[in-house]
Amino acid sequence: MKIGIIGCGNMGMAFANSFIQYNLVQKENLLLVEKSAERGAVLQEQKAGVVVDTISEKLGDVDLIILSVKPQDFPSAALEIKKYIQPNQLVLSIMAGIPIRNIQESIAHPMVVRAMPNTPALLGMGMTAFAAAPEVGLSEIRKAENLINSTGRAVFLEQEELLDAVTGLSGSGPAYFFYLVKQMIDAGNAMGFDPAMSALLVKQTMLGSYHLMQTSDKSLDELIQAVASKGGTTEAALRTFQELGVGQGLQQGIFAAQKRAKELAG
Ligand SMILES: NC(=O)c1ccc[n+]([C@@H]2O[C@H](COP(=O)([O-])OP(=O)(O)OC[C@H]3O[C@@H](n4cnc5c(N)ncnc54)[C@H](OP(=O)(O)O)[C@@H]3O)[C@@H](O)[C@H]2O)c1
Repeated sequence: MKIGIIGCGNMGMAFANSFIQYNLVQKENLLLVEKSAERGAVLQEQKAGVVVDTISEKLGDVDLIILSVKPQDFPSAALEIKKYIQPNQLVLSIMAGIPIRNIQESIAHPMVVRAMPNTPALLGMGMTAFAAAPEVGLSEIRKAENLINSTGRAVFLEQEELLDAVTGLSGSGPAYFFYLVKQMIDAGNAMGFDPAMSALLVKQTMLGSYHLMQTSDKSLDELIQAVASKGGTTEAALRTFQELGVGQGLQQGIFAAQKRAKELAG
């Protein structure tokens, strides 16, 4: 299989590296189109694949094209892609917010799959949901799914509109988690720990709690209750969260991310 990646930043290369790691593509069959000269030089140095700086007829040789430029760079990239794209090629977009219909029209090509990954894809622990144009057949959907699975977990959505909710939940989700961890570490610092000690206490707590949640047969409410004894310390914290509307605030934030994804879709 030959794969072309247009826009080899964090996400494009997270995908490229996962494909290489799982032998889904050989480096000599991986075309890396990267506009930034600085980034292109790094990729060249790393011998990450066949590195080029512009979209050219070479794009016509690949089986699958991954679109991983920023959404605002897509219109100009599309004008170039349109010149070289071949009818049998499958296009997989990981750009936030741009609907399949817009992509199809911009590159004059029907075979488009749209996916929303997240940054743990860098470690092969990503969560990606994807949807496909009606013109994309089952075997092409499977092909896309197999590729995405190398970056973590993949779920197929029948309804493309749900990708905006995915963006708000798992796409932006890593940032919510880091935000929560940071608030806890800052609280530790305010209580007098040095930052390294606060970070250790919090990060190990998050790691252990994640595994407890995944292996326990208790519900999340039961797990919370198991820590919060009556009249105790955890209960005091949870009551304060409730009074300040922390839970509601988090949910409102997620809805705001979903709304923003819809706005970007136009
Ligand atoms: N980061 C996330 O958490 C995340 C999650 C889900 C989806 N996504 C999506 O993934 C996409 C990439 O995000 P990213 O964080 O990887 O961005 P990024 O690091 O900025 O990477 C994009 C790269 O594409 C290059 N580029 C722009 N126009 C190009 C063109 N015409 N041909 C070739 N290369 C071109 C850019 O170069 P210049 O810098 O010189 O412009 C940049 O190096 C975005 O559409 C984003 O919505 C990101």
